[in-house]
Amino acid sequence: MKYSRYSTIVIGSGIAGLYAALKLEQQANLPDGIMVLTKSTFGESNSKYAQGGMVAVLKENKCDSTESHITDTIKAGAGLNDFNAVKFISENSDKVVKDLLNFGVEFDRDENNNFCFTREAAHSVRRILHSGGDATGRMIELALCKSVQSNTNIDIYENGLAVELLVNANSECKGVLVYNCITGEYETIYSPAVILATGGIGQLYKYTTNPEGATGDGLAIAYNAGAVMQDMEFVQFHPTALAFDDDVNRFLISEAVRGEGAKLVDADGIEFMQKYDERKELAPRDIVTRGIFHEMKEKHLDNVYLNASCIDKKTLAERFPTISKKCLEKGIDISRDFIPVAPAAHYFMGGIKTDIQGETSIKGLFAIGEVSSTGLHGANRLASNSLLECVVCAYEVSEFLKDKNLSSPKQIDSEIKSIIDKYSEDTDFEPIDTEDIKTELKEIMWKLVGIVRSEKSLTIAVEKLNELQEKFSRKDKCLNKSEYELKNMLTVAKLIAVSALRRKESRGAHYRLDYLNTYEDCVHSLLNKKEGELDFVK
Ligand code: FAD
Ligand code: SIN
Repeated sequence: MKYSRYSTIVIGSGIAGLYAALKLEQQANLPDGIMVLTKSTFGESNSKYAQGGMVAVLKENKCDSTESHITDTIKAGAGLNDFNAVKFISENSDKVVKDLLNFGVEFDRDENNNFCFTREAAHSVRRILHSGGDATGRMIELALCKSVQSNTNIDIYENGLAVELLVNANSECKGVLVYNCITGEYETIYSPAVILATGGIGQLYKYTTNPEGATGDGLAIAYNAGAVMQDMEFVQFHPTALAFDDDVNRFLISEAVRGEGAKLVDADGIEFMQKYDERKELAPRDIVTRGIFHEMKEKHLDNVYLNASCIDKKTLAERFPTISKKCLEKGIDISRDFIPVAPAAHYFMGGIKTDIQGETSIKGLFAIGEVSSTGLHGANRLASNSLLECVVCAYEVSEFLKDKNLSSPKQIDSEIKSIIDKYSEDTDFEPIDTEDIKTELKEIMWKLVGIVRSEKSLTIAVEKLNELQEKFSRKDKCLNKSEYELKNMLTVAKLIAVSALRRKESRGAHYRLDYLNTYEDCVHSLLNKKEGELDFVK
């Protein structure tokens, strides 16, 4: 098997991974260089599709303050947030967002060259920066990809899927085992610092705003390596994904459209959000999603509508060029027509438990961005806080690593050797038809572990997921990328369902029909794999 050594491996080429690589290269002593490993083409990620923007509590925005951002974040998060994480991220947003500008990132400005701020649900003031109108993610990705590509100290490895972490008996991570999706070969990459920036899980659900790659890989491989996972039951469903035909991967209609004044209506044009919350369209995301879910269920509808015709035509075209264009392709003129929308899986609040610097429970393993759980988002993420968390934690992990000895390990522990041996052996597997199993898994998650849950639905889900796991017989080595992704999806789906079953309260995005109350105490759920079994950490 081929092998290489790096001072740091960053897994993922979304905003968290790219910015971490750039900051590390700028600051740390890297005798063996940095690698950015990514499972598809460089830059393909959830980040690329982000629309609304990035929260930035900037000193020049006199209407805003960190206190107000902290309050909004904790309110939206239904109190499950870690105060210190929220405070740190909020207080560091000015410094980090401005540092991004040094890497060619630009945000929209007005005619006086001042930043334009937009508003999204549950924010008490306008504090969200955007770029290219509604193409914030794409614009930031483009700039960061360009900076990484032109940096000769950062190697890029495309179409390389991280399949297992090299963790020894002392719970120290020494690198990662990679499957090359093009050649079908395996490679070992040794490194004293592995940064997981592998993003979310939207593809576990039938309807999602996330692209194909969001299969929870980083979560599964960290869990399998023994990392402590936090709040795995908390999945955010975005209220307004474009519900057109039977598209399952749904294009997002940004919350910023509601932030600028659009209303949710039924087919007759009647507004309904006042029935669910006095903040109506601008209530926290979980509340708006449940409102729409209820309307659809009660009236047997496949979708409701967003009416943006109250927004000035010029503003719509300038602020939302991507959304306008996409809708027009479907024959919808958003300045005039109702936009059909329905909820879809969007973001994962749970993840690998980390501190602000990305440290996990495994030495040498770091996690940043959507794959991590810092405690910022609590039970329901406040809009546009994700990109902020990506960049602040990327900045902090590089601060943490900058004074460390990053020489790659020379000695190979016996446990690591046995991991490598598993993938070196020849196999005569028959391919498995992954598509059918994936479709079943997505149905189970959507119907039974979705927006509304109960003891009954979750128990059935766990049983059905166990059956799927038996049907899919791979334990470690698989035959191709799709099999690896399915293995990871099954692992993570089960963790979500089991955690949801255990949380006997409704809080934020976790809504239990049989336990409508919220506990007074906010308790994180922590789990890990011990002696091969799922174990809840007390
Ligand atoms: P990602 O951007 O998802 O990147 C993950 C990377 O890891 C990818 O490159 C992937 O290929 C790679 N990867 C995964 N598994 C492996 C593996 N096994 N081996 C190798 N590589 C792997 N948030 C906001 O704050 N504001 C917004 O306006 C906003 N809008 C959004 C709109 C949409 C449509 C979506 C889907 C999300 C939006 N979000 C928004 C959420 C936000 O975009 C994401 O949470 C954030 O971009 C995650 O960044 P990340 O770097 O952690 O992961
Ligand atoms: C959106 O634009 O509605 C998405 C914002 C987010 O997910 O934070």
